[in-house]
Amino acid sequence: MKQKELFKIKDSKIKKEKSVFKRIRDESFDFSEVPASKGVYGIHPYPAMFHFLVVRRLLNLYSKEKDVIWDPFMGSGVVGVECLINGGNFIGYDINPLAVLITKVRITPLNQKSLLKSFLKLEKEFKKTKPEKVNFFNINYWFKKEVIDELSKLKKLFTRLKTIISEISLSYLFPKQ
Ligand SMILES: C[S@@+](CC[C@H](N)C(=O)[O-])C[C@H]1O[C@@H](n2cnc3c(N)ncnc32)[C@H](O)[C@@H]1O
Repeated sequence: MKQKELFKIKDSKIKKEKSVFKRIRDESFDFSEVPASKGVYGIHPYPAMFHFLVVRRLLNLYSKEKDVIWDPFMGSGVVGVECLINGGNFIGYDINPLAVLITKVRITPLNQKSLLKSFLKLEKEFKKTKPEKVNFFNINYWFKKEVIDELSKLKKLFTRLKTIISEISLSYLFPKQ
C-alpha cells in the first residue's frame, strides 16, 4: 500500500473513533469560584495546573481506596496530592526537574511545630549571614543589587541547611515516607 493511502485509512479511523465521544457540558465541574492556587497549591504557579477540585471529583468517581494512581506527566503534582488525601498511592513522573521538586515539596507531610521552629532558626541565621559575590551574564538586568544580596545569603544558608536544623529533628522535616 502506498504511503499516502496508509494515512488516509488512519485518518478515517481516527474520525470514526472521535465520533464515539460526545462533548457534554457539566456545570458542576465549574470551580471557578474557588482559586486553583489555594493552600498547598499556592506554592508555585505551575503552567496549566489542574484545578484540584476537578481531580478530587474524578478520583472520587473513578478510583477506590488504596488504588495506585500513575500520572506520567504530573507537572506540579496536583494528582499526587489529591491521591494521597484520598488514601491512595501515587506514582508520578515528569521530564522537568522543577516539576519533580514542586511535587516532592507538595506531597511531603510536615509537622507544623517543627517547621515553625526551623523557620525561626533560619530567620535568625539569615540575619547573621553576610552576602557573597554572585555573578552571571546580565545579572544586573534581572535583579536589583539588594535582591542579589538577599538571594546570595539565602543560597549560602540553604547549602548549610541540614547542619543548621540538625538539632530540630530531621526526621520531621525530611521524612522517609
Ligand atoms: C500541562 S503540564 C501538567 C500539569 C499538571 N497536570 C499539574 O496539575 O500541575 C504537562 C507536563 O508534562 C511534562 N512533559 C512533557 N513531555 C514529557 C515527557 N516526554 N515525559 C514526561 N513528562 C513530560 C511537562 O514537563 C509538564 O510538566
